[in-house]
Amino acid sequence: MNKKVISLLFAGVLVATAGCSQMKESGRKLTGAESDASTKRIGFLVYNFGDTYIAQVRNVFAQVAGSQASVYFKDSQNSQQIQNENMEVYINNKVDALVVNPVDRTATSIIIDKAKNADIPVVFYNREPLSDDMKKWNKIYYVGAKAEQSGAMAGEIMADYFKKHPEADKNKDSTMQYVMLKGEPGHQDAEIRTKYSVKAVEDAGIKVQKLAEDTAGWDRNKGREKMAAFLATHGDRIEAVFSNNDEMALGAIEALKKWGYFKANKYIPVVGVDATADAIKALEDGTLLGTVLNDAKNQANALFNLAKVLANKQTPNKENIGGYELTEGKYIWTAYKKITKDNLNDAR
Ligand code: GAL
Repeated sequence: MNKKVISLLFAGVLVATAGCSQMKESGRKLTGAESDASTKRIGFLVYNFGDTYIAQVRNVFAQVAGSQASVYFKDSQNSQQIQNENMEVYINNKVDALVVNPVDRTATSIIIDKAKNADIPVVFYNREPLSDDMKKWNKIYYVGAKAEQSGAMAGEIMADYFKKHPEADKNKDSTMQYVMLKGEPGHQDAEIRTKYSVKAVEDAGIKVQKLAEDTAGWDRNKGREKMAAFLATHGDRIEAVFSNNDEMALGAIEALKKWGYFKANKYIPVVGVDATADAIKALEDGTLLGTVLNDAKNQANALFNLAKVLANKQTPNKENIGGYELTEGKYIWTAYKKITKDNLNDAR
């Protein structure tokens, strides 16, 4: 085994095994196709392994890669500094392409500079770098989805419910009293989903009143805590719960259950985003009203196609990346989709 491969192993990377969906803690020997010089090596940096939606993208990516490439996963543990250090390890080991889910989307210029110096192309995903940073080099790409669309769809699901259920306006003041659980401040999906979900309700002709808004960092436990605090202050005056993602929505549902909701006809509409497996269960059991599919499968596919072409030192185009449109030569946008109890299978 050559020195570089050994150092990559000692760095504690996670390896996607050839033809296998499981990702194993490394220490494992690279054998067979993986040690073959013709097999391209992709370094994959994740902002936080604990994030449910991102784990879905990671798992699909490993499945799609199968035996087509060796993929090394590293957890940045929500620290940009750790991510930068991980990046050095991949550069020192001369991976052929990098896939990066930045911790801080405003701090990608360091990553871009390092990649450019080493001439290793980068595909960012999920956390969109600033457009000025995206212009710094012609070998950087982004795969993501338009936050405006997910926000608007979440708002439309809520507005439809209010129109069909006049009893949802509990105090009969023709205004939706809502609370908002926000994802991480500064993340495009937190800021923009928040704005566009409320805008969609207003655009549907429904007046809104915000009773409370707080950040719960994409996290289920924090979602539960923040919702419990909203209930302690506003109690049953709350008529609608928006959450920037499903994990926080599921936490909110736990707090609402404790408050007596979802039994004996006591109901409140809760809407999230992502369509994770647990969210689909909650749609089935009638606690979650709706969610918006954040298409992990499609994103992982686009990411892999792009990373593979780049690892082979080709220039990506619609044909060689599986038909995905490359906007401005560097962005791939996947579409969101509204999911309710009526079309659950579209999210499986
Ligand atoms: C969002 C997703 C969240 C969280 C976040 C991480 O797109 O809806 O659940 O995964 O990305 O950056």
